[in-house]
Amino acid sequence: MRTKTPSESRTIMTDMVLPSETNPLNNLFGGELLARMDRAASIAARRHSRRITVTASVNHVAFNRSVPLGSVVTVEATVSRAFNSSMEIYIDVWMEDRISGEKVKANEAIYTFVAVDETGTPTEVPKLKPETELEQQRYDAALRRKQLSLVLAGKMKPNDATELKALFTK
Ligand SMILES: CC(C)(COP(=O)(O)OP(=O)(O)OC[C@H]1O[C@@H](n2cnc3c(N)ncnc32)[C@H](O)[C@@H]1OP(=O)(O)O)[C@@H](O)C(=O)NCCC(=O)NCCS
Repeated sequence: MRTKTPSESRTIMTDMVLPSETNPLNNLFGGELLARMDRAASIAARRHSRRITVTASVNHVAFNRSVPLGSVVTVEATVSRAFNSSMEIYIDVWMEDRISGEKVKANEAIYTFVAVDETGTPTEVPKLKPETELEQQRYDAALRRKQLSLVLAGKMKPNDATELKALFTK
């Protein structure tokens, strides 16, 4: 299986915030943003693996800034690390200033997708080779995020989360 780069999976989705997608403060409803991020991440996972992919976990979401009605929102999803059948997808969300066109970072999130075959059984994915400094940083930290997610899901014993434990003992 050919090793791939993050740029091969990068998925950029740009859309507006419409009235039906807002909360009572006229900002983008959180669940709507989660769905947009899930969709972009799903495409990135598919581009990396060329398989059917399912969301296994939402590892982290930070709603740092509200996104007002009418905003142009760009969701950028990229595979940040591939394991055996699972892939970590890093998602950056940007808002575009209406007057200047300047892009401001609004939110970010980290999802885990798993590649499966037609019966839903996890299947192997290509390895990932980071190219930029940021891609390398995200790649390096992905293993401890995977271990944290598995511990929280009750799928790994805390004692076995060696990479995660090292964070606290260094
Ligand atoms: C995701 C799913 C395929 C995992 O199946 P499973 O029986 O737990 O399979 P495994 O234990 O072999 O795990 C498969 C991979 O997922 C990873 N994984 C499973 N749960 C995880 C979690 N909570 N966080 C991070 N990784 C997880 C495992 O570490 C493993 O990764 P690896 O192969 O890269 O080492 C299965 O739980 C599933 O189909 N869930 C429903 C998915 C879905 O419908 N999503 C949409 C929600 S509406």
